[in-house]
Parts: sequence; structure tokens; C-alpha cells
Amino acid sequence: DFSWKLADHPKLPKGKTVAVVVLDGWGEADPDQYNCIHVAQTPTMDSLKKGAPERWRLVRAHGKAVGLPTEDDMGNSEVGHNALGAGRIFAQGAKLVDLALASGKIFEGEGFKYIKECFDKGTLHLIGLLSDGGVHSRLDQLQLLLKGCSENGAKRIRVHILTDGRDVLDGSSVGFVETLENDLAKLREKGIDAQIASGGGRMYVTMDRYENDWGVVKRGWDAQVLGEAPHKFRSAVEAVKKLREDPKANDQYLPPFVIVDESGKAVGQIVDGDAVVTFNFRADRMVMIAKALEYADFDKFDRVRVPKIRYAGMLQYDGELKLPNRYLVSPPEIDRTSGEYLVHNGIRTFACSETVKFGHVTFFWNGNRSGYFNPSMEEYVEIPSDSGITFNVQPKMKALEIAEKARDAILSRKFHQVRVNLPNGDMVGHTGDIEATVVGCKAADEAVKIILDAIEQVGGIYVVTADHGNAEDMVKRNKTGQPLLDKAGKIQILTSHTLQPVPIAIGGPGLASGVRFRKDVPDGGLANVAATVMNLHGFEAPTDYEPTLVEVVDN
Ligand code: 3PG
Ligand code: CO
Repeated sequence: DFSWKLADHPKLPKGKTVAVVVLDGWGEADPDQYNCIHVAQTPTMDSLKKGAPERWRLVRAHGKAVGLPTEDDMGNSEVGHNALGAGRIFAQGAKLVDLALASGKIFEGEGFKYIKECFDKGTLHLIGLLSDGGVHSRLDQLQLLLKGCSENGAKRIRVHILTDGRDVLDGSSVGFVETLENDLAKLREKGIDAQIASGGGRMYVTMDRYENDWGVVKRGWDAQVLGEAPHKFRSAVEAVKKLREDPKANDQYLPPFVIVDESGKAVGQIVDGDAVVTFNFRADRMVMIAKALEYADFDKFDRVRVPKIRYAGMLQYDGELKLPNRYLVSPPEIDRTSGEYLVHNGIRTFACSETVKFGHVTFFWNGNRSGYFNPSMEEYVEIPSDSGITFNVQPKMKALEIAEKARDAILSRKFHQVRVNLPNGDMVGHTGDIEATVVGCKAADEAVKIILDAIEQVGGIYVVTADHGNAEDMVKRNKTGQPLLDKAGKIQILTSHTLQPVPIAIGGPGLASGVRFRKDVPDGGLANVAATVMNLHGFEAPTDYEPTLVEVVDN
């Protein structure tokens, strides 16, 4: 007797326009010169913080609060937007893969049985991000996968690596490649023909998202499948070290390379009869390569040669598209998201961001589900991102355009919920360029202002929050919080996310005067936001949602 019908909130009215603004990569941290949000002029966000103390607070955005394995796991956009949209905490990919590897169940499942058929005659190819960042993949999981595959009969293994420098320090790729090389050498001692076959930087090779630039995926295809790349090396350690000698090089953007044998032939092309596993658990940057590997009809680039392979993802990356069809670990079943409930309860919704974050406020928000719940009730607008650039070059990104679209949607009075993601703190923060990140944070703050002004005009309500930290801390620190220096005495730039909490502020002329943050959910996290937003739309949240952050006092 399940019903989509939400109960009326006993005190809060319906019909208000609610703006939900997610500042990507916008955490709260002590002010210093590496806190770009502090350094930047952010009068709008400052005024929310300094305004009504009962309408601004911090929420947890990392670790267990968002379904990650440990409290040492920084937050990220996937788990952050999942929690924001779903209102509950689901064990996420990282955790599910850990469990499946620990119990050994991963090697008993349908997906593994499917690829195992190739182990006798074919090569097993493993493609994915090589680091211990824990956002898209983890080295220790790859190690356990290699072990399990070899124990289960894989005789010839080729690893196609993508170097990180975005979820981990730039330059750390060399160490990860050395570790992997050691592991593969040990497998070779046991008679297994195991090698790294190709590589490239994650932002330049394979791991594009939301169809921003298919050229990225093509570069990966050429190296991994066709064995073709502009750079050829005899070993991956040599490749990464050599390519990093270019003063402009960094791990995120290393050019593609293939490993060749003494005759100059690529050691690991993907051919008929091979098995392929993409070992990232996170979806967004695997969907495009999964399409290239799986779809018979495919016109995004010329694949030249389409090998007949057995392909499995670490997880299924898109539940709606059933992509890929085969996978080693079942993804979290993020059902009954707030978006789906609200649409069933008559809430007309507008969602917008630019390409690089578009899926965050649609796909991730809706539980890793692409498309609309009900196209007559929803409108999703994607503003094309600049492609082929690093965002320190254009730190304002499309923040203004996103805000203007949101403003127009609010002023049209056609929508009850207007939801956006403002990418600057995160996307510019990941470049490690402090000055540019400051510019980006200011632009994001100006965008918030435009949206709040529109809410003011229509008598609406705003909820301003973030998905995880990034721009508020741009330096690697020791345990006491002091910047860590490298051997040369230089600070180490932190390109990754952080463990910091994020702000949430509510307000607007439509917010009933007695609404304030409760004091009895001090550990509240991103998953508490969905119930909060449902309340502001005039509904009670489902009982199994994490509790709302707000209460209504009589005054
Ligand atoms: C990325 O994919 O860009 C980073 O690994 C994580 O960033 P996001 O979680 O903010 O998207
Ligand atoms: Co990020």
C-alpha cells in the first residue's frame, strides 16, 4: 500500500517558489590565505551567515554522513547530490565494492562469471582511475580485483591507467604507478602475463562526463582499444616520469600513451574475445566510455574497430539506461527520491547547471537516474560549458548564465522548485590555482545574489547550501592544521575536496516567520536537506527520510 502522496505539513503553506542553490565545492573552514572563499569578496554568502543565526548552520558532507566507508573519506558531488536529493544515506559504491571484495562475493556474481568466460583464451583489460582518492576508484580495490581475477583463472591481464592529481595531490601518480608495477611484477612471477598497457591523465583521456567532450573518450579508445597514442614507452613508470618533465604537465592532463614491446608494438590492444572491466565505481565519468564499449549503434566518434568483447562495469552506472548491462557489484538502490515524490505531489520543477555539473542536479539528484520523472512537470536546462579548457582560465564559468536562467524560471512563476548547481568553487578549486579560485568564488556569490533577488520579487523561499568542501582550503595541511611543505620548502597545493562541513541557509519573504533550524539535529548532514525542502514546499517528508532541519515555532 505504498503511496507517493505526501502528507500536508501541519503549519507550512504550499505554493511558494523555493530556490535550491547548491554551491559546488563550498565548505566552511577557518579563514586564512588558502581559504579562497574567505579571501574572495562574497557579500551575499557573508550576509546569510551573519544574518539570522537560526537560519544558517553547518551540515556534514563527508564520510558516513554521505554513505562513504570511513570518516577519512572526503565528500564528493556524487554522494553529496545523492544525499541531497534522496533524503536518506545509502551505502555508496566505494563501500559496496569494499564489502563485495571482502566477502569474495564479487567473484561469485553474474558479472564476474560473464567476463570469466574469456579468461582461457582472451586477455582481461582493467580500465580506470589509478589513485587512492576514493572518489571514483581506489587502488586497494584494484589490487584485490587483480588478485581475485588471477586466482580465478585470468592468465593475461592488461591495465589501462588514468592518472589522477585531482582527488589526490598532483605528482602522486608516479608512486601509484610504481606500486601497481610492483604488484604486476609479482603476478608475472606467478606465471601470469600482467602489464600496464596504456595511460593518460583523467581529464584528458577517457573520464569526461555529461558528454562535454567526446574527444576525451576517443583519445582513450585509441590508446586502450586500438593501441595508438602520440607517446610510446616501454614502461608506465618511465611514461609518467617523462611526460611530467614538461613544466606545464600535471597528472590530471597527461597526454595519452601506450606501452610497446621491443618491436614497437602496443602490448595491450583490446581484441575479439577479450574481457574488459572499468573498475571505477562512480558513475558520471564512466557513462561515456561504457557507451563506447557497449553500444552497437554509436556515432560519437569513429571507433575504427569494434572488438567483440565481454564488458562489465565495476557497478552499473546508469540504472535507467541499464548501462552497462553487466557489472560486478550492484549499485546502491536509490529509490523514492525527493524529486520523484515532489513531482507526484504537483511540484513543478526547474533544474539547471552548465554541462560539467548538469548531471549533478538531475542525474545524481534523482538517484543516478537519467531523464525526467514526468516531462510535463519538469524542465532541465543545460548551459554548454566551455570545453577544452581548464577552468582557471575562465573562473567565472557560466555562473552568471545559470543564475539568469534560474531568475527567469523564478520570475515566470511556472515552477515551485528552481534548483541549480553553481560549479565555480569546485571546478576552479580542482585546478589548484588559488587566484583563479578566488575569482570563481566571487562569481558564484554574485550568482547567488541574482537568484535571491528573484526570490525576493516573487515572495519565495531560498535554500542555499553546498555538496562538499573544496575552495575553502587549497593547501595540504599537517595534523595541527599548518600548511605542509614539500622537500623544496614549497606549500603543497590541495586540488582535491576536503572533509569540511558545508553551510546551509534558508530565508526569503515566503518563509513563515516561525521557521528556524532545530537544535536537536546537531549532526545533521546533506541527507537532512531533502525533508527540509519538502517542508518548505508545504509537505511532511516520508517517515524513513532523515529528519528535517527545521521546526516552526509560534510567535
Ligand atoms: C571530479 O570528478 O571532477 C572529481 O573527482 C570530483 O569532483 P566532484 O565530485 O565535485 O564532481
Ligand atoms: Co569536485
